[in-house]
Amino acid sequence: MSSPNLLYDAIAIDGPAASGKSTVARLLAERLNLIMVNSGEMYRAVTLAVMQHGVNPCDPITVADLVKTINLCCIVENGGSQILLDGEYPGSALRSDNVNAAVSAVAAVPEVRHLLVALQRGLLQHGDLVMEGRDIGSIVFPNTPYKIYIEASEEIRRQRRAAEGQTDSVGERDRQDSARKTSPLVVPDGAEVIDSSQMGIEEVVKTALGVLETRGWFDRESERNLV
Ligand code: DC
Repeated sequence: MSSPNLLYDAIAIDGPAASGKSTVARLLAERLNLIMVNSGEMYRAVTLAVMQHGVNPCDPITVADLVKTINLCCIVENGGSQILLDGEYPGSALRSDNVNAAVSAVAAVPEVRHLLVALQRGLLQHGDLVMEGRDIGSIVFPNTPYKIYIEASEEIRRQRRAAEGQTDSVGERDRQDSARKTSPLVVPDGAEVIDSSQMGIEEVVKTALGVLETRGWFDRESERNLV
């Protein structure tokens, strides 16, 4: 189990921008009846708040001060987690070009990470979940055996974002996310790496299901029933 104190388990999916991890996590959530958590949306919501308050995203001291005052919460409904900023779902504003450009700087601020990691861990009280992000297997749930790291070449990832109609310098974001001091993007200890560059999404999901099977995901129900 991810934590000896909790009944539920977490599947951690990490990887760089546009590697396909959100789609894989969503499909795993649908097929395995899990709560789906997109942790990147939480960092995007904080970034949106930073911009709404006119704070410079590259000023970590002011960002850290602001984070103490913003009203951010996470609810679980319809099989997924939703982030609320001032009681409202921020919707497509989370994926604006401005947020894309500023989110890595905001995500590097330790106070931001501290707040969001606590929110993320708290979601495990609601049920088994699959959470995707950059530090899920390394920091948020380091004890889970269910860790997958999805990667793809930078060119393929850039093409995927362009096909979605987004302006997103994925390579630059990855460099910032990998270089930051606090919780950088890494392949977590014990994670299975899947390179999705030449794979269709179904193949990636099938590979991920194979990893989970090998690591005992499907044996947990019988183990739980014995407790
Ligand atoms: O998954 P995404 O591209 O929506 O994430 C947006 C940014 O949030 C990403 O560039 C880095 C940050 N992030 C993070 O630092 N840690 C996470 N667990 C998830 C996202």
